[in-house]
Amino acid sequence: MTDTTTVPDLVTSIAVLRARLDAARADGRAVALVPTMGSLHDGHLALVDRARELADVVVVSIFVNPLQFGPNEDFEQYPRTLDDDRAALAGHGVDVVFAPSVDEMYPSGASATTVTAGAVGGLFEGRSRPGHFDGVLTVVAKLLGIAQPHHVLFGQKDAQQVFLVQRMVRDLDIRTRVEVVETVRDDDGLALSSRNVFLDERNREAARALPRALEAAQSAADLGIDAVVAAAQSVLSGATGVELDYFAVVEPSTFEPVPDEHHGPARALIAARLGDTRLIDTELLTLG
Ligand code: PAF
Repeated sequence: MTDTTTVPDLVTSIAVLRARLDAARADGRAVALVPTMGSLHDGHLALVDRARELADVVVVSIFVNPLQFGPNEDFEQYPRTLDDDRAALAGHGVDVVFAPSVDEMYPSGASATTVTAGAVGGLFEGRSRPGHFDGVLTVVAKLLGIAQPHHVLFGQKDAQQVFLVQRMVRDLDIRTRVEVVETVRDDDGLALSSRNVFLDERNREAARALPRALEAAQSAADLGIDAVVAAAQSVLSGATGVELDYFAVVEPSTFEPVPDEHHGPARALIAARLGDTRLIDTELLTLG
């Protein structure tokens, strides 16, 4: 029986984590992995709580993965709050926090084998952040190889990441079940993100345009794709301090932009810069 009040154990070595999880699996216990880069918020805790429902042993990995940051991105500035993160996990039934060093994860350095995300990896987030999804898939593949979890959990907010991880798991025949958990939002609708801490008051206010644009898109969905785009654009064009990167509507099963005549499920995606902070959000629509 897992103690739900104490701070989870910290493991930094791949070998130690493997030994512990091998023993759990040998006892017939199901393992769930929640991959994170730390700076945990309620969105992460929703993943952890779902993991607890699915499995007997819950591992949260905390690793700021250098491979998924571009040379001009915020790898150095990315918040690193391991002690606070472990404290936040107390009471959520997490057995282990796995927080390896960069050397532990990438002992071969730049010559290491990597996973490529393919054409979809170059769209949307991948266009703005070249190589980002190769880095994400590489670290996720490694974490899955290390933990061999029965379940791995991701938040829906990172919709393109979810799509690519699901496809990688299928394409590479990785034995795990991907569970996707809905986005957790603040009272004003802003999706929780570790990067929200970088928003000053003005940018925080401006950032509300992202969920508002998605709400407008949702309200117009019955009228079809042109109405959806117009509704989102009317919110975004009136929003000051929002530098839109993209608003797009994709076919959920391919992640390709929907054709004009598309009806049925579609995923709206938005990315924008608020000052120095780049945020993304998403909503599932049903186009009429
Ligand atoms: O979503 C994230 O926090 C990261 O991309 C992930 C999945 C932990 C890989 O580093």
